[in-house]
Amino acid sequence: MNTPHISAEKNSISNVVLMSGDPIRVKYIAERYLEKSVLVSNVRSMLVYTGFYKNKKVSVVGHGIGIPSCLIYVQELVDFYKVNKIIRLGTCGSVRNDINLCDKIIGLGACTDSNVNRLLFENYDFSAIADFNLVLNLVRSAKRLGLKLFLGNIFSTDLFYFYKDRKRIDLMKKRNILGIEMETAGLYGLSSVLGVRSVSICLVSDHILNKKKISISERIVGFDEIILLVLDSILLNNKYNNLNF
Ligand code: HPA
Repeated sequence: MNTPHISAEKNSISNVVLMSGDPIRVKYIAERYLEKSVLVSNVRSMLVYTGFYKNKKVSVVGHGIGIPSCLIYVQELVDFYKVNKIIRLGTCGSVRNDINLCDKIIGLGACTDSNVNRLLFENYDFSAIADFNLVLNLVRSAKRLGLKLFLGNIFSTDLFYFYKDRKRIDLMKKRNILGIEMETAGLYGLSSVLGVRSVSICLVSDHILNKKKISISERIVGFDEIILLVLDSILLNNKYNNLNF
């Protein structure tokens, strides 16, 4: 085993990684969208695949639920496998009337009830933000593919069921939180410590206000759109100076 949680050979993971909580979704992305995809690690059934999208080498990695699980994989991917671009494809809940099931949200920033970023930042408040280049490329690809995106603050909670009550939902609404999920604030915080780029894009899978959830078929369609968007975006080159999107 090469790291405690990933058994892949040293050079078998690309520097560009797509991450998702559910290993079954990771398998789906690799088998459906990548060419020559190979399973390179399956420790604890947290699947890791490497393959090619239009000749670009890319890996897809499961991260489980919540910041602690996600950050174990992020740290090992960066330290041992030299990963430097991470795009999380997740789901989130919405607390707003204008954000509906199946909408797609990029977390420009991520608030949190987790203590992780204080641990990493000598107890100061850390501004957990996405990498500008990765955001820019996602926005350019979305424009090309005709997909609508919401961009703004999301909230990463340690407690899945904590934000279901009215008082907290109202607070999230008032503070313009676009979606609630469980990993992004930690991902952005650790990315800054490790000096790598990261971004999260989430499909709205449930509406916390009206308790509606997306159907299985809506989830498949929504994720297919997000996967194609993300794969298209990683083909774009990184140039801050071309803002003509
Ligand atoms: N809360 C936290 N995480 C989530 C949710 C939610 O409502 N939906 C999808 N991930």
